Amino acid sequence: MTILAEDPALINSVAEKTVLLRHRLAEIATDLAPAVFANSLGAEDMVLTDLIVTGKLDIEIFSLDTGRLPAETYALMSRLSRHYGLTLKLYYPRHELVETYTRSHGINGFYDSVELRKGCCHARKVEPLQRALAGKKAWITGLRADQAATRAGVAQREFDNTNQLEKFNPLAEWSEREVWAYIHANDVPYNKLHDQHYPSIGCAPCTRAVAVGEDVRAGRWWWEDPATKECGLHIKRA
Ligand code: ADX
Repeated sequence: MTILAEDPALINSVAEKTVLLRHRLAEIATDLAPAVFANSLGAEDMVLTDLIVTGKLDIEIFSLDTGRLPAETYALMSRLSRHYGLTLKLYYPRHELVETYTRSHGINGFYDSVELRKGCCHARKVEPLQRALAGKKAWITGLRADQAATRAGVAQREFDNTNQLEKFNPLAEWSEREVWAYIHANDVPYNKLHDQHYPSIGCAPCTRAVAVGEDVRAGRWWWEDPATKECGLHIKRA
């Protein structure tokens, strides 16, 4: 995304929000240890990565490697290690779940129905997330309220009933422009797919570029209705 470097209102809002964000992350690290950050390597998550690493905060950073991520996402993981000396803690799907899934539904069975797509997300992301969060007091995500209709009411802090720990979405009130202003101002590495009209990036077979004017998540599970477009990491259990 191109940002007008000379836009003073944008520069001010990012500066103010960054001070708050630094403070919030430091508080989570000290008050809710052990806390972890779920890093998808998307633009929002690069802002959080930069602040956690440069602030030397005691927050473990992990990624769920589904086994089907785009090559550009793996390239970014390597860049993070060169840029920050950061080695992400990677979690993988349980092989027996993936084997059962592909034997029953085929290698690309997720295109056949919402139920099968959610089954794939469950094996490759939701189950590994449960292991990543086990024994932790808090987790941090890069969710923003204006990313999608399904995220409109996202809170800064909530209790994650499903995984039974505190969940923080400290970028909830950041705009996409603010995220990119931070990235450019601080020379933060980012996924090269963002320069090819991929505002939101998940697994390779389930993500495509968006057209001008399309919603930021239009390229995720593009064949589905917008109302179903969540992978299950952020589903609330009453
Ligand atoms: S999601 O539907 O795939 O969850 P999105 O890509 O917008 O949506 O990610 C939202 C947040 O979920 C990210 O900021 C991150 O905190 C978490 N997340 C999503 N995918 C992953 C992943 N592969 N590894 C770690 N965290 C992830």
